[in-house]
Amino acid sequence: MAITGLILVAFLLAHMFGNFKMLLPDDGLEFNDYSHWLRTLGYPALPHGLFLWIFRIVLLAAVILHLVSAFRLRSRNSANVGGQRYNTVRRMESSYAARTMIWGGIIIVLFVIMHILQYTAQVLRFGYDEGVTNLAPYDRVLAGFGEWWVVLAYAVAMVAVCLHISHGFYSAFATLGANTSKGARRLLRGLAQFIAVLLFVGFMIPPVLILIGVIP
Ligand code: HEM
Repeated sequence: MAITGLILVAFLLAHMFGNFKMLLPDDGLEFNDYSHWLRTLGYPALPHGLFLWIFRIVLLAAVILHLVSAFRLRSRNSANVGGQRYNTVRRMESSYAARTMIWGGIIIVLFVIMHILQYTAQVLRFGYDEGVTNLAPYDRVLAGFGEWWVVLAYAVAMVAVCLHISHGFYSAFATLGANTSKGARRLLRGLAQFIAVLLFVGFMIPPVLILIGVIP
């Protein structure tokens, strides 16, 4: 669970930095080039698009393994506390983020399905008509975030991502044995919160700037 979680955090950081290309004042030239580059990476040594598919398969495998371990952990935990009369004490000691891991995870999975239907499959067309085809990636992002409710839906998903990571990042390093002292635990907690806030702010900058018209 720790390793797959860290792979997914690394993907999110890379994705967030990639999205910053939307902020360049070039009408989306760099952002569209970047999207094209993802599909031609490795070409002509590899067939067109193969690298992206390998990347998608690795990512999907990480998500599936992460979910399987989460459900195993949850059933083991409920079996352990099932016989205890005072498990309310355990609840009070854990943080809000820790207690909502499973719900946060479900919101993130639903968000990713919606996100892939919007950008990869282009089945969900937010902000533009059915008849419009072949919109460049930059224009699809602009059209979607021109709608306040799309920005709101993304903000809710980003809160879930942020809470999930603020606990999950710390737990991953604890599983890997890095919480060896009080100082190490404090450092890991701080780092987890920093990455969670960075991802929230970093992912929300482009949608908000588009909505308020700073990115025209
Ligand atoms: C405001 C935040 C976000 C924006 C604007 C955004 C935008 C995009 C865009 C435009 C693509 C398509 C890239 C392309 O095919 O060229 C994409 C792909 C993707 N995004 Fe995001 N994204 C955001 C947040 C997230 C988050 C939080 C996650 C995960 C929790 C995520 C997961 C993915 C995945 C898995 C793909 C790849 C789909 C594929 O294989 O084609 N994104 N995103």
